[in-house]
Amino acid sequence: MIPLSQPPASSPEIDLPPRILLGPGPSMVPPRVLRVMSTPPVGHMDASYLAIMDRTQGLLRYVFQTENALTLVVPGTGTAAMETAVANMVEPGDAVLVCVNGYFGLRIAEMARRCGGDVRTITRPWGEVFSVDEIRAALAEHPARVVALVHGETSTGAAQPMEGIAAAVHDCGGILIVDTVASLGGVPLAVDALDIDVCYTGSQKCLSAPPGLGPITLGPRAVQKLEARRTPVASWYLDLTLLRQYWDTRRVYHHTAPINLSLALYEALRLVAEEGLEARWARHRRCAEMLWNGLEALGLALHVAPEHRLPSLTTVRVPESVEEAAIRSCLLAETNIEISGGLGELKGKVWRIGLMGYSAREENVLALLGALDRLLG
Ligand SMILES: Cc1ncc(COP(=O)(O)O)c(C=O)c1O
Repeated sequence: MIPLSQPPASSPEIDLPPRILLGPGPSMVPPRVLRVMSTPPVGHMDASYLAIMDRTQGLLRYVFQTENALTLVVPGTGTAAMETAVANMVEPGDAVLVCVNGYFGLRIAEMARRCGGDVRTITRPWGEVFSVDEIRAALAEHPARVVALVHGETSTGAAQPMEGIAAAVHDCGGILIVDTVASLGGVPLAVDALDIDVCYTGSQKCLSAPPGLGPITLGPRAVQKLEARRTPVASWYLDLTLLRQYWDTRRVYHHTAPINLSLALYEALRLVAEEGLEARWARHRRCAEMLWNGLEALGLALHVAPEHRLPSLTTVRVPESVEEAAIRSCLLAETNIEISGGLGELKGKVWRIGLMGYSAREENVLALLGALDRLLG
């Protein structure tokens, strides 16, 4: 007899509160997506599942606005997609430039260092954005083979204008990586029109699937760099030369796909396509403007200048007289609304309010503004 230890004395059934998710992600998941998740799984090599992978690729090309053949889903969260982008593009000794104006830029820079990149960063105060001239000047000093920046900085609520950046990077022979974890599907962005080489996102924000998947797309310059690598990608799991063999016609086993999560993403992407990108961007913008006007009417100050605000994530300054975390706790306890505190440099100074995907609805904005009015009044 093998001596067995006992199970925990108590493992109650799951009983989660019905939260209204208005933080920086995850966002709320639409009922159709939740229903699809309870589909009995098939095998990850089943023809019926492979067909859904193909259709998912097609929908992702629409959402990214790209024709890129190498468009697939990394089996991991947004950070896994970020690491896939960095680990596949950065080789030891490569000059890398990372534009850091928030927490996630710092994360990219750290990943690039760990891949052996010769990393230089340029910085802006948290809440501000970069100009093309600043990026060109940095590249003149440090001609980078890889440049990375964040389109929607979730830690600050700033949206980086993208026009002209790819040209600056390509003029010095570099590859442009853009993080759209907090923006894709909610904020205007078109990968091919902007000539972005590598773009990735997460399933759980403006796409409104549950967390756990990281869509990514690579254009021709990035594929060329990948195929010309002098060294194998240090991460076996995130190596796109292997991962893509499961997604293209070769169908080589790489990992056991997270089937039900992938079905959820597929359904969430179907919803994006049914709504249409332009209508979806407009809905996010409409809800954000309603929130911004409402917060200002309550006497609160927004952290980011109007022209650089990210519709999917708003940072609002916490008044001096108020205890930041206490308000969030009351909000959660009394109304089930989740918002978030600041991250990194902005910890304790701002609240972060997300209006992403299925959470971006006027009724949610009104509920939050009403509750804040009562709690701060
Ligand atoms: C801009 C940005 N990049 C990357 C990530 C990392 O994604 P995940 O938390 O899904 O790993 C996040 C998550 O909040 C994000 O907002």
